[in-house]
Parts: sequence; C-alpha cells; structure tokens
Amino acid sequence: MTIAEATVAAPDGTAEPQRRVAVVTGAAAGIGNSIAERLARDGFAVALIGRTPGTAAAAAADIVAAGGTAAGYDADVADREQVDAAVEAIRADLGPVSVVVANAAVAPQQSFLDMTLDEWNTTIGTNLTGTFNTVQSCLPDLVEAGWGRVILISSSSAQRGAPRMAHYAASKGGQLALAKALAVEFARQGITVNTVVPSSIDTPSVEKKRAAGKIPSAEDMAKFIPVGRMGTGADIAGAVSYLASDDTSYVTGQTISVNGGSFIG
Ligand SMILES: NC(=O)c1ccc[n+]([C@@H]2O[C@H](COP(=O)([O-])OP(=O)(O)OC[C@H]3O[C@@H](n4cnc5c(N)ncnc54)[C@H](O)[C@@H]3O)[C@@H](O)[C@H]2O)c1
Repeated sequence: MTIAEATVAAPDGTAEPQRRVAVVTGAAAGIGNSIAERLARDGFAVALIGRTPGTAAAAAADIVAAGGTAAGYDADVADREQVDAAVEAIRADLGPVSVVVANAAVAPQQSFLDMTLDEWNTTIGTNLTGTFNTVQSCLPDLVEAGWGRVILISSSSAQRGAPRMAHYAASKGGQLALAKALAVEFARQGITVNTVVPSSIDTPSVEKKRAAGKIPSAEDMAKFIPVGRMGTGADIAGAVSYLASDDTSYVTGQTISVNGGSFIG
C-alpha cells in the first residue's frame, strides 16, 4: 500500500491530507509490535496501546525514529475506563480511528480441574472482553467515516484446542465468533471485520516459556511445521497489512490462519 492510499481528507475540510489512524493493542512487544511497525511503514499513524506504563510510548518512539508516525498510550484492555480514556487521547492527538487491531492477550497455562474462577475470568476478561472494549470504544469513528477495518488476533488453540489452556482457547474461540457477528452487523457500513490466527510464532513471550521448559525448542517445533520453521511477527503483520488495506472491502468475516501450513482452520 502507498502512503497516499492510507490518507483521508482532514476533518476540517482543508486539502491537507491526514493519515489514517490504526490502533494496535499489546503493541509494546512481540506480534503487536511487529504489526505496529508494519502499519507505520504502510503509512498509517499508529496508536500503540500497552499495559505496562511507558512501554507503548517507548515502542512508538522507535517507530518515529525510523520515520513513521506513532504515539504510545497506557491502558489495561480489560478496564473499559482505561480503554475509553486512551481512545479519547488518540482521537485528540492523531484523529479518528480507521483501523483497530485487537492483539493484547494473556496466555496462562493451568489444568482445567485446577483452574480457579479468577484465572478463568482474568483470561476471558483480557482476551475476549478486552477485545470487546477495544473494538466498541473505537467503532463509532469507523461508522462515522463509513470506512473501517477491524482485525482480531486469535490463536490456533481456538481451532484445534490446547491442553492446560481451556480458558485461553475459549477466549480465542470467542474472538472468532465475535468477528463473524460484527462482520455481518457492520457489512453495509464499509467496515470489514476479520481474524488472523497465528500459530507457533517466535516472540519474546514464547522464548520465555521455552526458557522455563514449558514448550519444546524452536528446532523441535519446526519439525512439525510443514514450511520447516517457526513464524515471525512479520508473518502476522503481513496478513494484518493486507486486511487493513483498501484491497479488502469484499473480504469480511474471514479467518486467515498464518501457521506455516500446520493446521486447516
Ligand atoms: N506467539 C504465538 O505463537 C501466538 C500463537 C497464537 C496466538 N498468538 C496471539 O498473538 C497475540 C500476540 O502474542 P505474542 O506472542 O506477541 O505475546 P505477547 O505476550 O508478547 O504479547 C501480548 C501483549 O499483550 C499485552 N497485554 C497483555 N494483557 C494486557 C492487558 N490487559 N492490557 C493491555 N495489554 C495487555 C502484553 O503486555 C503483551 O505486550 C496474542 O493475542 C496471542 O494470543 C500468539
């Protein structure tokens, strides 16, 4: 996509073009950070949302240093007031939102029989209700513009299950269903809603689990992936870039599995 394609007229009617604004949650590290970097390269003004104070601003500064337009905001996506405050600040700083990428998530491991209600609620609250909070807070801007892209980052665990991750798999399956429902509800308003489903993406959080002995080495995992390697954040960002573009006005309610050929989903 060219920068020109990612621009809209300024709200005050002046000829000065304004970059489309893309919001990415969980954008300080990992896949979310790769998505933010890619959308900035595509010409979007990117609003990075992070939970740990200051981390999104630091990641945004890196994007600005590389020549992009970006700003960072602190918010826990499970907390609606924090999300609304961040989105208000984004509107004031960058303009109305055009693209929403709900990426923030926690991925704890716990056997189902030992899982507490608190653990269940925290995972659903972050991954699924956090997606609801983010999308609902931003969506009025997309409706107002008659153009928008909503992209949810789910997980292959929603397609094939995952032992000791029932709460996570359920939250990620909820995202798939939420995307389908929103796709048909907003189809006539120029808004597409799609899901990207990663699997086996080598990110710092995966590396942490590997170091703790909770998952196999990258080499061992690669043996079971048809393309012969783990994925990267850039692999996911490429799919998000496509879904955020003007090319996808007839693509909605779809699931793109970015998994090296591992699973049919
Ligand atoms: N890495 C993989 O192999 C893989 C596989 C399937 C799905 N995914 C999905 O991809 C996305 C990114 O995964 P990742 O590997 O980069 O993991 P990650 O843990 O590095 O990224 C998740 C980000 O979300 C943030 N976050 C967590 N809770 C939050 C909250 N309440 N409010 C705001 N931010 C919060 C974290 O701080 C982190 O930056 C997640 O949705 C994950 O479920 C990843």
